Amino acid sequence: MNRKYRKTVIAGNWKMNKTPSETKEFMTQLKSIMPKGRWCDIALCVPAVCIPAAVRAMRETRVGIGAENCNAKASGAYTGEIATNMLVDAGCKYVIIGHSERREMYGETDADVNAKVLAALEAGLTPIMCCGETLQQREAGITAEHITMQIKLGLAGVPEDKIRKVIIAYEPIWAIGTGLTATPEQAEEVCEMIRSVVRKLYSSKNARAISILYGGSMNDKNAYELLAQPDIDGGLIGGASLVPEKFVKIIEAANQPTV
Ligand code: PGA
Repeated sequence: MNRKYRKTVIAGNWKMNKTPSETKEFMTQLKSIMPKGRWCDIALCVPAVCIPAAVRAMRETRVGIGAENCNAKASGAYTGEIATNMLVDAGCKYVIIGHSERREMYGETDADVNAKVLAALEAGLTPIMCCGETLQQREAGITAEHITMQIKLGLAGVPEDKIRKVIIAYEPIWAIGTGLTATPEQAEEVCEMIRSVVRKLYSSKNARAISILYGGSMNDKNAYELLAQPDIDGGLIGGASLVPEKFVKIIEAANQPTV
């Protein structure tokens, strides 16, 4: 982290977990134990049907609610899809885009991710754009190449004055939901590399200002060490964001001296 130059962001990704009633219960518990300090931004990205309950519960708090996906089109005959302006109207501040589960299971391409990032920015949402390599790619030594491509294609056409609004999440696919966290050094190496890609695409100032999160089995035990890395500006947290006490411990881990 480096709070002098950029925001620290602790974001939860609930995936397909919790009903609206469970959301309400979770938010009540979270509010009762939420730390008072404001050392990081907090986001909870929840299933679409849970958004109204989450927004209602967190209205007077510092927790921003987000969606887990969006459609890049503004409206029309896209059965089952949700447009960015609908998310804004429902009270969302964030949207996760290009999570590896969507890329792998629902065939999302870098071009889809790019269209969604542009649509989210246009609507005033903060996109949390995900990237990450498979175990095979890591073992083949092509992690940097693969992620550089994902970043370049994902950010295509994002104007200079909007790039700071984008949050990038580095999530090695082999670490997601497996309990196999990347070591702080492995995660830092890639996050630093992502920042250098942003530096080349934009400028040093923009690269210094953008928040880059790590995701993949981040939990209350390993968060402190991961967040101590200079280029890891927060976390995108799946499993551990479903338990209020664990999520709060990760928020507390973001309260540490930075470089
Ligand atoms: P995990 O998920 O924390 O459960 O590994 C992270 C994510 O997929 O965003």
